[in-house]
Amino acid sequence: MGRTITIGNRKGGSGKTTTSVNLAAALAHKGRRVLLIDADPQGHSTLSLGAHPRAGWKTLADTLLDGVAMEETVIPTYLPTFDLIPGGSRLATYERDHATDSSARTKLSEHLDRIRERYDYVLIDTPPTLALMTICSLIAGAEVIVPMQTHFLAMEGLAEIIRVIAGIDAYYQRAVRLLGIVPTFFQANARLTRAVIRQIADRLGPDAILHPVRINVALAEAPSHGMTIYQYQPRSNGAYDYLHLANQVESR
Ligand SMILES: Nc1ncnc2c1ncn2[C@@H]1O[C@H](COP(=O)(O)OP(=O)(O)O)[C@@H](O)[C@H]1O
Ligand SMILES: [Mg+2]
Repeated sequence: MGRTITIGNRKGGSGKTTTSVNLAAALAHKGRRVLLIDADPQGHSTLSLGAHPRAGWKTLADTLLDGVAMEETVIPTYLPTFDLIPGGSRLATYERDHATDSSARTKLSEHLDRIRERYDYVLIDTPPTLALMTICSLIAGAEVIVPMQTHFLAMEGLAEIIRVIAGIDAYYQRAVRLLGIVPTFFQANARLTRAVIRQIADRLGPDAILHPVRINVALAEAPSHGMTIYQYQPRSNGAYDYLHLANQVESR
């Protein structure tokens, strides 16, 4: 049975898209069948993979707004084991028009149920909000990874997503498990980083901290070439860190 993992954090710039794309790629390079769903109206995961809108192109919004079957929206990537469902600005229409419609929140999950078993991993990249698309994505996924910059202000975002996860458990009877926090833009020798990590470990237990991802320029450059880190600089720290994270995710 495959796993569905939602990547979430309301703070923008915390490394959600970078983690979604490169963790998905790392798992796919290991031979796992991976589907990445871009649930962000900004479509950054889609762009990061070099996918551009063209005629006949369908996105996640076509499924949510018009009921198009999810398999018709799947596009291939550079690896045969790695599929993508593009996101894009029409998702903002869905968020706006269905904000108060409770059945809209489970729709992504229901559509995904029809293709879930084709994959070992479904990863969902979410927008930097706690609006409808993020709620949809959390309900659709049984596990959550929170990428987080190790700043004290970022602790707030963490507390918030933990509350939302608990709420989904209570209101939708879906057990959503926090798989862990990924410290991003990591600098091992920074005192603040160590203090924040200690604080998270005190609150959530040491197992809550997953393998950190170091600051690495190649990770920031790769999306502008429409490439994952494994295409752009496979020997970089970024490539190593996401592979290590993938191994850790597989072992849990
Ligand atoms: N480990 C890293 N080292 C250097 N730059 C990074 C790293 N992780 C992400 N970035 C860059 O930081 C910016 C924000 O990251 P992104 O993944 O888009 O965050 P989010 O999706 O949470 O908004 C992007 O320009 C990205 O390329
Ligand atoms: Mg993003």
